[in-house]
Amino acid sequence: MHRSSNDEHPPVEPYRIKVVEAIRLLGREERERALVRAGFNAFNLLSEEVYIDLLTDSGTSAMSDRQWAGLMVGDESYAGSRNYIRFDATVRGLTGFPYIVPAHQGRAAEHLLFTLMARPGQVVPNNMHFDTTRSHVQRVGAKPVDLPIPEAYDCSDPHPFKGNVDTRRLADLLDGSPGKVPLVMMTLTNNTGGGQPASLENVREVSRLAHDHGIPLYLDMCRWAENAYFIRTREPGMAERSVREIGRMVFDLADGATMSAKKDGLVNIGGFVATRDAKLAARLKEELIIYEGFPTYGGLARRDLEAMAIGLEEAADERYLEHRTGQVRFLADLLTGWGIPIMNPPGGHGIYLDVRRFFPHLEARRLPGQALVVELYREGGVRTVEVGAIMFGDGNEVSDEGLELVRLAIPRRVYTESHLRYVAETVRRVWERRASVGGFRIVEAPEHMRHFTARFAPEAA
Ligand SMILES: Cc1ncc(COP(=O)(O)O)c(C=O)c1O
Repeated sequence: MHRSSNDEHPPVEPYRIKVVEAIRLLGREERERALVRAGFNAFNLLSEEVYIDLLTDSGTSAMSDRQWAGLMVGDESYAGSRNYIRFDATVRGLTGFPYIVPAHQGRAAEHLLFTLMARPGQVVPNNMHFDTTRSHVQRVGAKPVDLPIPEAYDCSDPHPFKGNVDTRRLADLLDGSPGKVPLVMMTLTNNTGGGQPASLENVREVSRLAHDHGIPLYLDMCRWAENAYFIRTREPGMAERSVREIGRMVFDLADGATMSAKKDGLVNIGGFVATRDAKLAARLKEELIIYEGFPTYGGLARRDLEAMAIGLEEAADERYLEHRTGQVRFLADLLTGWGIPIMNPPGGHGIYLDVRRFFPHLEARRLPGQALVVELYREGGVRTVEVGAIMFGDGNEVSDEGLELVRLAIPRRVYTESHLRYVAETVRRVWERRASVGGFRIVEAPEHMRHFTARFAPEAA
């Protein structure tokens, strides 16, 4: 029988562990030295300096024995590999999109799509753009516009589908921008908004609005299975449907998708663009050959395509998804039980700490999200990421608008209940001394995507 997280345990793992990787907690002084060397940016830490790595759920999944076996049947032919044939058939079967163009990861898929679909002066609406998606829209001279429902910005609002698009604002934008919107995007789940799902009803309405205006709808389907699982468990009338079936209902409303299979493809590398548009598919393949490689491998080893095909199937398993979302809820329940503020309800792939309520004494210019990332590492060797003013700003600017979160992303099939308890205890210890934590300043930052490489210093230093 499955335990649920209500009795203070996550559901029992629907797998057993066959391979292990040693991890080690450095001593406090070593951690201090590591922070200084890294310029207080967790992206600059070495993985060996990290104990529990919650930096990202992207490309960090544990592959199954079936996937590892799949690597061994890699047919590394340049053209027409049998792994490509299987990959192509799997993705077409899963999504119903007829044209699939493999790419080495999600941002490569975005690069191909936006290079061909968006032009200077155009506008691309989305529930919320992920950082790489935003940059790709901007790179071609178009403007990314986030149109989430207002509840998305309120961490305490229990709305079950905070990833929904505000359809009234979308209708206004489409009516007011004739010829200027090349595509509408929806990010499932909404990563930058807390891993929050969008409902089937909302995707249906967005699809109707886009199509009434003659505009295609594309999905960022990185976390399509988690999104479908939330539809199954939260949307009335969906409980009897399988995740695969729900996924298909969602895909049927769209004209194509970009995918980072490093999430709900359960692989360490891989992605694709999918479309119903034959002409676009032909052009995507031309671009692909220039940037990624021949269309039957798309910048990947063919064995990676095999692992991706298997992973996409495994990600739709309801028992796996029950455990995965249960792990996130378990961590959320521990933290909220101690009064620690998080984005509620918890999303699909991690916990997002609500930094404004965690550090009310640190205003935006003192970079409270970065301060929390540093403290979690300092306290327990736990690596996390800021999703706030630093991630969404450029150069040295710091805005106090929008969400200010720290994400604890849970890698898939990697950590156990005791790891999660350790993480919760680490957060609690920082929470208990929160009033004494100081701010940070930017020492150096590139113009774009600065969170990856910027260097920081404690504000007093
Ligand atoms: C919602 C979303 N879209 C796109 C991407 C980009 O994917 P990748 O990291 O594979 O380039 C990510 C990655 O984290 C993501 O979360």
